[in-house]
This record gives sequence, structure tokens and C-alpha cells, in this order.
Amino acid sequence: MPAHSFLLNGQPVSVDSPADLPLLWVLRDVLGVTGPKYGCGVGVCGACTSHLDGEAFRPCLHPVGDIAGREVKTIEGLADASGLHPVQEAWIAEDVAQCGFCQPGQIMAAVALLRKNPQPSDADIDAAMSDNVCRCGTYVRIRAAIHRAAL
Ligand code: FES
Repeated sequence: MPAHSFLLNGQPVSVDSPADLPLLWVLRDVLGVTGPKYGCGVGVCGACTSHLDGEAFRPCLHPVGDIAGREVKTIEGLADASGLHPVQEAWIAEDVAQCGFCQPGQIMAAVALLRKNPQPSDADIDAAMSDNVCRCGTYVRIRAAIHRAAL
């Protein structure tokens, strides 16, 4: 099997796997990086949302063979030596999570939104986050946390 090398949360990794294996499976089942969740596996729920070269993306839709040389960041790589990311802090302050399953993807989507739009309106937030599904219905608290992180 071919080796696929990429940066994962700032560290170089190399994985022997079929080139068409979706990155989500590589992250979770090969590398043990389980922050990105398996919800639908077909790009519609957002539970696996992570970053590819700084942009939000869905690893369930990307074959590992297409990731070579690129930079992947998952929720595990969001905090740094100085502490949690401000979006993570805002999530805690607003007590957003209920069951928690979708929350890594929600947070990664929110970080990507705030990078592009540091002061989003409610409508901006709803538009950017509408494809990240939360079965507990935490959307009001997600919106509040994004506003808090934007301050
Ligand atoms: Fe990737 Fe649902 S598991 S979008």
C-alpha cells in the first residue's frame, strides 16, 4: 500500500493505506485521532469538520491520497501551549454542549468562520453553521458562544 504523508496538528505523519480511504477513517481508525466524529460519512452532518490548510473541511469526503503534503488540523490541535482556543473557552462559558457528539465539528466550523469574519452577525452565523447538525438543538448557545468569542 502507498504511504501518504501530511501534517496533522503540526506533526508530520505518514500512513500506509489505500489512496481512496477517506481521511476520516485514517484519522480515527489508523491514527487514533477521534475528535472528528463519524456522523453520516457522506458530508452532510458536519460532525467530522476539521481544517485543511486553514479552511473548514469534512474529512469523510476526502480520500487520504488527496491530502499528501497538506496540513490537517483537528480539534485535538486547536489548543496551544498558552491554553484553550478562545472559541473553546467561549463554548465552556456558554455551556454549549449537551450530548457533545457534534461539538468538535461545531467548534472547528466556528473557528473557521471567525477567521474569515471576526464579527459575524446572527445571520452570518446561521449561514455558516447551518450545515453542522446538532440533534440536541444547541444552536442558540452555539450562536452565543460565537458572539462571545468574537468580542
Ligand atoms: Fe463527515 Fe457527517 S461524518 S459530514
